[in-house]
Amino acid sequence: MTFGESSTFMKGVTSPDDEARRVFDRAVDAGVNLVDTANVYSEGRSEILTGEWIKGKRDRVLLATKCRFPIGFGLDRKPGPHELGLSRKHVLEACEASLKRLGTDVIDLYQVHMQDGSVPIDETLRALDDLVTQGKVRYVGCSNYTGYRLVESLWSADRKATHRYESVQLQWSLAVRDAEREMVPAARAFGLGVLVWSPLARGFLSGKYHRGQAAPAGTRLETWKDSYKAYDNDRMWSLMDAIRAVATRRETTAAAVSLAWLLARPEVSTIIVGARTVQQLDDNLKALEVKLTPEDVKALDDASRPDWGYPYSFIGMREPW
Ligand SMILES: NC(=O)c1ccc[n+]([C@@H]2O[C@H](COP(=O)([O-])OP(=O)(O)OC[C@H]3O[C@@H](n4cnc5c(N)ncnc54)[C@H](OP(=O)(O)O)[C@@H]3O)[C@@H](O)[C@H]2O)c1
Repeated sequence: MTFGESSTFMKGVTSPDDEARRVFDRAVDAGVNLVDTANVYSEGRSEILTGEWIKGKRDRVLLATKCRFPIGFGLDRKPGPHELGLSRKHVLEACEASLKRLGTDVIDLYQVHMQDGSVPIDETLRALDDLVTQGKVRYVGCSNYTGYRLVESLWSADRKATHRYESVQLQWSLAVRDAEREMVPAARAFGLGVLVWSPLARGFLSGKYHRGQAAPAGTRLETWKDSYKAYDNDRMWSLMDAIRAVATRRETTAAAVSLAWLLARPEVSTIIVGARTVQQLDDNLKALEVKLTPEDVKALDDASRPDWGYPYSFIGMREPW
């Protein structure tokens, strides 16, 4: 999502192409073996750059992309009904366009970017199944789904004998634990892989933001003022205190501790780090060396636990849900 100059939601917060290229090369050299992009990132430019840079390394990388959102529309023209969503027509056309931009014959993991309540799930899954059968896609996954809709999709795949979603991509971090209510237990129960997005809460958990201070110049949260406002509260600053205390004990960084907390969760298949620079990537890779003790994990769990709400708190008093 940080690859390619964007004129939409990532405007001003992506890397220059030469630095993004260095991030990509360093990541693959370090053993990172999954790259996640989407047709909509930087209006297609992220897929184009990924396609160029992956040449010669294709077999070392699991290439994941997504469809659903309209590309490149501004205030001047709104997308029509065939230019977005998870209808058969749009899924098949979006996939062809992604294959072209990525310069590849096959996408390893093709994900729907968010559920689409206007299209029957059977229709979307049949279209995805056809892409697998045609050899254009190896596995299908979903992102930004509700629990009931995910289970409906598993039923549909079972009933109609189509390929099912093998993975869910979801927002999960010490700052945002909502996915633990439904999606994470569902993934555990039905054996789906979990890909984590915004594992550092858009950089907030890296430790570069400080209580009572404005977001530093040039950071994503300086640009995304509403996101910073949402994190700028006592609960989040106390969480940062707990993360920093563990980082000091383990002689590492806040980013490494925050990522290590996710890595310690058995449901996590992969973490999609959004490093904008090589330095940030190297900092994030330190997570692989951090060994959190049970006391560290408990301190982080306690500092980050949200009010789970009903029925999770009711059930949680008696057993895990
Ligand atoms: N499925 C979805 O709907 C969805 C949504 C969002 C993202 N994603 C996927 O998840 C990936 C990661 O998301 P994300 O970029 O939001 O992840 P993130 O890791 O939470 O945030 C990345 C940002 O945090 C800052 N940062 C990262 N490491 C740092 C470090 N060590 N020290 C200081 N700052 C650091 C950088 O921003 P600055 O330097 O600019 O401050 C960087 O661009 C995306 O590339 C995309 O593939 C998917």
